[in-house]
Amino acid sequence: MSSTEQKRTILVTGANRGIGFLIVKKLAKESPPDSTIILLGSRDLKRGEDALIQLGSPSNVHVLQLDTSSRESIIRAKDEINQKYGGQLDVVINNAAIIRKDLSADAAREIFGTNYYGVKILNEYLFPLMQENGRIINVSSRAGPIVLYKASQALQERYASSTLTKYQLDQLVEEFISAIETNTLEHLGYNAEPSFLMYGVSKAALNALTQVEAYEWSNNKNLLVVSVTPGFCATDMTEHAPDARPAELGADSILYMVNALRSELKNGGFYADGQQIPLISAPIV
Ligand SMILES: NC(=O)c1ccc[n+]([C@@H]2O[C@H](COP(=O)([O-])OP(=O)(O)OC[C@H]3O[C@@H](n4cnc5c(N)ncnc54)[C@H](OP(=O)(O)O)[C@@H]3O)[C@@H](O)[C@H]2O)c1
Repeated sequence: MSSTEQKRTILVTGANRGIGFLIVKKLAKESPPDSTIILLGSRDLKRGEDALIQLGSPSNVHVLQLDTSSRESIIRAKDEINQKYGGQLDVVINNAAIIRKDLSADAAREIFGTNYYGVKILNEYLFPLMQENGRIINVSSRAGPIVLYKASQALQERYASSTLTKYQLDQLVEEFISAIETNTLEHLGYNAEPSFLMYGVSKAALNALTQVEAYEWSNNKNLLVVSVTPGFCATDMTEHAPDARPAELGADSILYMVNALRSELKNGGFYADGQQIPLISAPIV
């Protein structure tokens, strides 16, 4: 489609509600309609269309059906980007994620299927569409650094290794899920609160994946790959906790990664409100 070929195209996954929705809302307002395409990713088409209506159906926003935990859905979405939107992406914001508090291998499979493998597989499929100087922004959480802070030194070293590969990272994830099944998490070196552990490990793995992707792709199209936390925000995920900050601030923390000068950002870095933060850190009290 020639009219869309030159347009800056931004995909936000899991954008039918919560922080992803607010990211699209802000992007739609700040982006000229004739030069930008914003793809509102939603695993359920109807929920995506309802979100679009809630935004007032701006002409620069389009719904893209995308369940990030499903390879088939990823392939279909990629085909749609190729056929309808010029087959080019400038920014991908991997915002979709889930939380489960029951510690079980099934729940872990579900969490990792979206929060880790979903991002990894989607990025691999979309990489060929990424434009020169494009940005991949993986939405993570401080829960990642906290579970690593509470983990054994041996585990910390494995997650933080500068020579970590995707294969080794998958192994870390699979060992974690197996240890839930066999009730051997402490033996493996994980010590955090069970209700927080699976989500935290999925985000620690995502931060590590971000570093591996940054290393792998930095010499290819000059891509920037970063992870970012929105901070503790009032959304469905946090059951709108009264002590959480407004979700708009979370959206701003993520949008900083879209708009900041390239020279201000470190490839592979983990950010909060525009500041780089460590991959292993104690809880803030
Ligand atoms: N809220 C916080 O305090 C906080 C703190 C740190 C990090 N984060 C991170 O910020 C991001 C947004 O969180 P949020 O608070 O806005 O969460 P939320 O309100 O629960 O919204 C999550 C969104 O992700 C979508 N989603 C879930 N699984 C999906 C899948 N497999 N494929 C496609 N979409 C999927 C949901 O779609 P459905 O409507 O179809 O379920 C929904 O649109 C997440 O990455 C989260 O981990 C949030």
